[in-house]
Order: sequence, then C-alpha cells, then structure tokens
Amino acid sequence: MKLVFATHNAHKLAEVKQLLPKQIELLSLTDIGCVEDIEETGSTLEENALIKAKYVLDTYGYNCFADDSGLEIDALNGAPGVYSARFAGPERNNSANIEKVWEELSEKKNKNAQFRTVIAVCIDGKEWQCEGKVRGYILPEKRGEQGFGYDPIFVPEGYTQTFAELGDEVKNKISHRARAIQEFLASISAKGAE
Ligand code: IMP
Repeated sequence: MKLVFATHNAHKLAEVKQLLPKQIELLSLTDIGCVEDIEETGSTLEENALIKAKYVLDTYGYNCFADDSGLEIDALNGAPGVYSARFAGPERNNSANIEKVWEELSEKKNKNAQFRTVIAVCIDGKEWQCEGKVRGYILPEKRGEQGFGYDPIFVPEGYTQTFAELGDEVKNKISHRARAIQEFLASISAKGAE
C-alpha cells in the first residue's frame, strides 16, 4: 500500500519510514508532486492535521496521514498551542517565541506545560486521529544547543535537563511526536489497514 505522510520534512519522513511495516510504501508531499503550501487555517491541532490529510486525499487521491504539534502551557490556557510556530509573529522566529513565553509567564507561578502532537489519518475511506503528549515545565533561561523550537526551555517530566540538552536519542524515545507515531503504528495494524 502507498501511504503519503503530508510533510516536506525529510528528517520526519525518514524517522517514520524506519518504523513502518515493509509492505507500506511511504511517500512525501514532494514524491507525489505536491509543492504547494497547504494552508493551516484551523484553530486546533486536530483541525490542522485533518486539513492537511484531507487535502492530500481530495487533491491527489492517496491514503494519507498528517501531523501537527505545539507547546501547551497550563497557566496560559494551552497557548501557544496551534500557534506555537508563529507565537511572536508571522516570521516564525524561535528566539522571539521563547521571549514571548517568558513575558507571558513572568507573573505566573505555575510553569507546567506539555508538548502535544496530533496525527490525522485517512486510509481506505476510514478517518481517525492519534495523539502523543509529553508533560514538563518551562525554564526561565535557555539551556542546551540541540533540537529546535522551544527545546532549550522545556524540561520533560522525570528529567532535570532540557530537550535541547538531552538530544535526539532521549527525545526520540519520550517525545510527543514519538508517542503519537507509536500510537499511529499500533492503530494501523489494529484497523487492518495494511
Ligand atoms: P510542527 O507541527 O511539528 O511543525 O510544530 C509546530 C511548532 O511547534 C514548531 O515550529 C515549534 O515551535 C513547536 N514544536 C513542535 N514540536 C516541537 C519540539 O519537539 N520541540 C520544540 N518545539 C516544538
């Protein structure tokens, strides 16, 4: 079965490819000739993931899945959430996003937060969603050089180092994305979509 992962990110594609059963041929957006930007107009992670998966199904006719992730801070009622990439503005600047998180959290005692990933799946006329979360807290300073986005200020539960200090090996075991992908893989076999 051909299955499209609605991403242009080669790193994400390679990671998922390794985990999938051999009979599934995983294709990226580039592989199917989709070069246009799919507009993420939803107001939740669930909506955005579904918009991307449906777009590929409706426009190109492929079985497909799509992910959307964000940082959800308890004291900010789940913000920045779906707006994580552009929290401080459309230029998607990681440092500015982090500054804005600190600013909004400065008066708040509760620094707890989570990263969450939603995967929307459209396979053989069936639609479903999977989710992965990792809880933790926000640090008032940056620590570590690895990773991306909010990694230098996020300490996952059970650890004392940030994601940016822990690096890929630990992150790929416990991250929101890894957990959502595990749930997705289990769900494919459970739904007999192979
Ligand atoms: P995406 O849906 O994976 O593109 O994630 C959207 C945005 O959420 C990113 O641009 C980051 O700002 C933030 N984000 C998602 N996952 C992570 C992560 O693993 N570490 C740090 N930031 C993340």
